[in-house]
Amino acid sequence: MMDKYDLIVIGSGPGGYVAAIKAAKLGKRTALIEKRDIGGTCLNRGCIPTKTLMHSTRFLSEARSMEEAGISFTGISLDYDKLMERKDEVVARIQKGIEGLLKGNGVTVLQGAACIIDPGLVKIEANGDRTDIQADNILIATGSVPLIPNIPGKDLENVFTSDHLLSGQARLYNKLIIIGGGVIGVEMASIYNELGCDVEIIEAMDRILSGMDKEISQSISMGLKRKGVTIHTRAKVTNIKESDGLVCEYIEKDKPKTSQADGILLSVGRQANTEGLFGQGLSPEMDGSCIKVNADFETSIPGVYAIGDVIRGKQLAHAASAQGIVAVERICGLTPSIDLEIIPSCIYTAPEVATVGMDEAEAKEAGYQVKVGKYPMLGNSKTLLSMGERGFIKLVCQADTGRILGAQLLCDRATDMIGELGLAISKKLTSKDLASIIRPHPTYEEAITEAADDIEGMAIHIMPRRVL
Ligand code: FAD
Ligand code: NAI
Repeated sequence: MMDKYDLIVIGSGPGGYVAAIKAAKLGKRTALIEKRDIGGTCLNRGCIPTKTLMHSTRFLSEARSMEEAGISFTGISLDYDKLMERKDEVVARIQKGIEGLLKGNGVTVLQGAACIIDPGLVKIEANGDRTDIQADNILIATGSVPLIPNIPGKDLENVFTSDHLLSGQARLYNKLIIIGGGVIGVEMASIYNELGCDVEIIEAMDRILSGMDKEISQSISMGLKRKGVTIHTRAKVTNIKESDGLVCEYIEKDKPKTSQADGILLSVGRQANTEGLFGQGLSPEMDGSCIKVNADFETSIPGVYAIGDVIRGKQLAHAASAQGIVAVERICGLTPSIDLEIIPSCIYTAPEVATVGMDEAEAKEAGYQVKVGKYPMLGNSKTLLSMGERGFIKLVCQADTGRILGAQLLCDRATDMIGELGLAISKKLTSKDLASIIRPHPTYEEAITEAADDIEGMAIHIMPRRVL
């Protein structure tokens, strides 16, 4: 007899595995199907491998600047294989933890490629074997895959995506060209620059990180250039060919140019992964290549839901997890427990970037009269004592009420501080509310108090615009 569940989740990334555990905790008999590795893109080919590598390469740059702090080193050396080994160890440890949680919560994990052949009916294929299972509801969390631009030469050896790079199929190149100066491009440029590789970014738009607050994208661009990364903007790659390594031909601001490298990373975005997911005659309404869903994450096929990178929206692990929890709550007839409107975005460069809500330009475009408070981090004692770089904390609020609309942080530990500002936006707090609590000294977060006070020109550690 065919196994029957309350819920089948397809895909074990941060969207799928979190949803499966949540459903099990709410008493649902749950199956989770995964065709590759538990943890999905985030754990195996995304967030965790990149941030583990970044943690290691950060040691290198810190070691190089230690002399200034009175500590000298001789003979710093790099073992690339060991670096990759540690990444694999971290991934394996987290994977074991997730597997333990799934088991402990009674989720049935099934290995294989899932195909929805009818509403409520899923076929699983693994090693030539087929198993069919049934459920009242199905949740699709099949994520995304790298988008491959249609450039001649894209299939040449040593032209690769982040998937290859992070799975150890790439090597430590002397010169790396990165096509696409988005989040992956910038994070990979930081890693390989710190590893001593010559890095060149080719970006189609007029600035890297074009979706980010302009001041942040300009600051990151300046920082990378200062560290030796070459950045081309308004540049379109037309061809990649082999000739003494790889040659990348591109048009930059209407001028044809070439650059040579021994490795090329394609990081021009990611697309929804729906390959082989639907049986014949079953096609949900789509939104481009993404699966279309309603406010409850239900697709046009009743009882079939979708969350995470496979639907339109921010392609972020924490967004996928939050959507997974809310989708399960809706399936269970519960009120959503998470505010899905407020999604922080982070980039783990040095210094880090973290943003939430609207930036100044977006708030004005949305019709708000705004006030902006800003604190430069070179006035923050923790930044100075930690030899931190130039950066800032910026708060955008509604002019008349003082309500916080957004925050943009460029500083060390920005990614660990942004949660407080997300809470402030979600709970409609004002700049006065933010400034009304005591923050410990010396910390980076003291700069939040200063930025909040700066909205009314009352920041203690900012020189008055006019000397009194
Ligand atoms: P995924 O994590 O993509 O998981 C989908 C899973 O479904 C996969 O395991 C896949 O094998 C499986 N699957 C697909 N089809 C089927 C099928 N038919 N049957 C069975 N299984 C199937 N986000 C952040 O928030 N922070 C970061 O620092 C960050 N860094 C990143 C760095 C890189 C290099 C990349 C590529 C991404 C990064 N992301 C980051 C984005 C993040 O990884 C994704 O947003 C997140 O993984 C999406 O989660 P998901 O559950 O929707 O899908
Ligand atoms: P992206 O959308 O962030 O950036 C792609 C960049 O490539 C854009 O700047 C775009 O203008 C450029 N581009 C597109 N086509 C091009 C071409 N032909 N030539 C030159 N440039 C071109 O996508 P990316 O960097 O691939 O990352 C995918 C997603 O993964 C991100 O959107 C993000 O959601 C997620 N991610 C999140 C991270 C984090 O949270 N720290 C880290 C890495 C990825």
